[in-house]
Amino acid sequence: MDTGLKTHILPAGAAATATAAGVLAEGGLVAFPTETVYGLGADAGNAAAIARLYQAKGRPAFNPLIAHVADLGAARRIALFDGQALRLAEAFWPGPLTLVLPKALSCPVAELATAGLDTVAVRIPAHKVARDIIKAFGGAVVAPSANLSGHVSPTTAEHVNGDLAGRIDLIVDGGPVEVGVESTIVGCFSDPVLLRPGGLTRAEIERVLGHPLQSPPADAESDAQPIAPGMLASHYAPRTPVRLNASDVHVGEALLAFGPVKVGRRECASVEMNLSERGDLAEAAANLFGYLRTLDTRNADAIAVMPIPEDGLGEAINDRLRRAAVGR
Ligand code: TXA
Ligand code: MG
Repeated sequence: MDTGLKTHILPAGAAATATAAGVLAEGGLVAFPTETVYGLGADAGNAAAIARLYQAKGRPAFNPLIAHVADLGAARRIALFDGQALRLAEAFWPGPLTLVLPKALSCPVAELATAGLDTVAVRIPAHKVARDIIKAFGGAVVAPSANLSGHVSPTTAEHVNGDLAGRIDLIVDGGPVEVGVESTIVGCFSDPVLLRPGGLTRAEIERVLGHPLQSPPADAESDAQPIAPGMLASHYAPRTPVRLNASDVHVGEALLAFGPVKVGRRECASVEMNLSERGDLAEAAANLFGYLRTLDTRNADAIAVMPIPEDGLGEAINDRLRRAAVGR
């Protein structure tokens, strides 16, 4: 769907913030940087704008959105916080954590954005550009990652433009993002559940809770009854097949390395990129989606990915890579 819409791109700053707030107020779609990935924002209270957003992304409408707010007061008008939810909010907001909570009584988020659930996902982003836009707009902004549905999330304004030019009104360019993987999603039910590993590690969350996070039920990824519906197994796939835990390279494959490169037949790789030569997981997370996008353009037979440790941010990185490997 190219609507023939002209997508404007503005460098982040006061003028872009004011323009973005105006576009949101008129029901338009604005992509902006958060610390995790670029988001595609719409007025959380405007069902028509949200319908356009789903259309622009080509996203199934059963996949609910995260409401982004500027402060805890705004979050509490949207959702009900119990003691544990408040502890997490106070420890980690603003930051790469999304809480799924029961909706507040007169929750201002449109039903369409919560896909008919009686829960709502909320977060306060840490990126100055995101917060300035939300504050200037004056209400909650729903924002999925600013990519076409099924593509990897965008970490630069160029990625957004590549996917969504002609489909959205405005892109605010704040440079590459810091974290590089999406927020960690915790469902605050009687026992907090890790719905999606992300930019905040499990260990940091468990330290504040004082007990382990639960895992979602095994059928959470079924299309029929999604718990974190965006976690459909094939959500993050590039077009090129992805081969995980590669210990050697097949002829015609691209190599996505991590740390010191200890793979067999390295010379067979048509192209090689290293997520972090020094084996730093934060650096790898920041590079992950951009490198997948780049390797996806190289017409390789497959992308061979070296093993990545599962600790810290490795949990989120491996989660995204497993989804990429399922294909679409
Ligand atoms: O870092 C991020 O979270 C980025 C930036 C832009 O904030 N946003 C993002 O949004 O990743 P999106 O739409 O790509 O992913 C939101 C996830 C989806 O998996 C969705 O199913 C889940 O949140 N979600 C939203 N509302 C939910 C709810 N009420 N219950 C369970 N899962 C929910
Ligand atoms: Mg997404």
